[in-house]
Amino acid sequence: MIKIGILTSGGDAPGMNAAIRACVRSGLSLGLEVYGVFDGYEGLVNNNIRKLERGDVSGIIIQGGTVLGSARLEDFKLESVRQRGVDNLNALGIQGLVVIGGDGSYRGAQALSNMGINCIGIPATIDNDIDSTDYSIGFDTALNTVIQNVDKLRDTSSSHHRCSIIEVMGNRCGDLAIYAGLTTGAEVIVTKETGYDEAEVISRLQHIEETRKKRHALFIISEKITDVDLLAKKISQFTGFSGRATVLGHIQRGGSPTARDRILATQFGDMAVQLLKEGVGNKCLGLRNEKLVSMDIEEALHLPKASRKELFELHDRLV
Ligand code: F6P
Repeated sequence: MIKIGILTSGGDAPGMNAAIRACVRSGLSLGLEVYGVFDGYEGLVNNNIRKLERGDVSGIIIQGGTVLGSARLEDFKLESVRQRGVDNLNALGIQGLVVIGGDGSYRGAQALSNMGINCIGIPATIDNDIDSTDYSIGFDTALNTVIQNVDKLRDTSSSHHRCSIIEVMGNRCGDLAIYAGLTTGAEVIVTKETGYDEAEVISRLQHIEETRKKRHALFIISEKITDVDLLAKKISQFTGFSGRATVLGHIQRGGSPTARDRILATQFGDMAVQLLKEGVGNKCLGLRNEKLVSMDIEEALHLPKASRKELFELHDRLV
């Protein structure tokens, strides 16, 4: 009997549950015994592991978050800490592990694979910052959440002749910002890739206000770039718009997954258990040019950062 475990790690993402469900159901259908590891690598180290049956994942495909719980465990970098996790898996006879998370989680999966546990990484993060896949689970749902909220802000901004500055998540990746900017008709989009020059952005808004006679402006900016409340004050001071800042925050991490995230998660979950059944490890999955692929985690972690230059050029033609 082949025994496998599943864990979710790092920031949660809508669709993680759909991936868990697929791993459990496909695993059982393939004759495997499936275990849930609760609270990420922390639960692995603390032996918070339980056998899962089909009924344990009933109804979770529609739920955001992760029923297994998630955590970020800095100490997992230490071999002595990881060894406790490996010992717990060995004691239960678990030879393979599906790790659902972002690139930080992949590093843990790679280290575990090198210690004899076959790991398969499934990309799940709202940031879409894993270069081995065109889309990670959760990105589409988070993007739709951002769009819904920006559309609402447009209504009120327009009534009050305002510039709405909307800070979106993404860690250091601008994908949520550029895709949300394009799909909501934002006037300004700032990410790490565009760079940020406050004076230039303010003069651009001034120009938009004076020449286009617009009743509102939408300004989407990635987190960790500037203090958006201060920026809003400067916009009120130096342009014809009054500025208001909204930080969307963890709202972006919740909610029922979209069709796209459910399908992607289901396909990844199924593929991961098939690979573990074949005795494959140290790999991660991805969607590249609409095809499901697997590659060595080592290779995935060293791919160059994808540029969104063409999307920014498209945005420039539209504003
Ligand atoms: O990686 C997902 C993410 O939501 C990032 O966009 C954000 O920077 C970070 O996690 C927030 O982390 P936490 O939930 O630990 O505050």
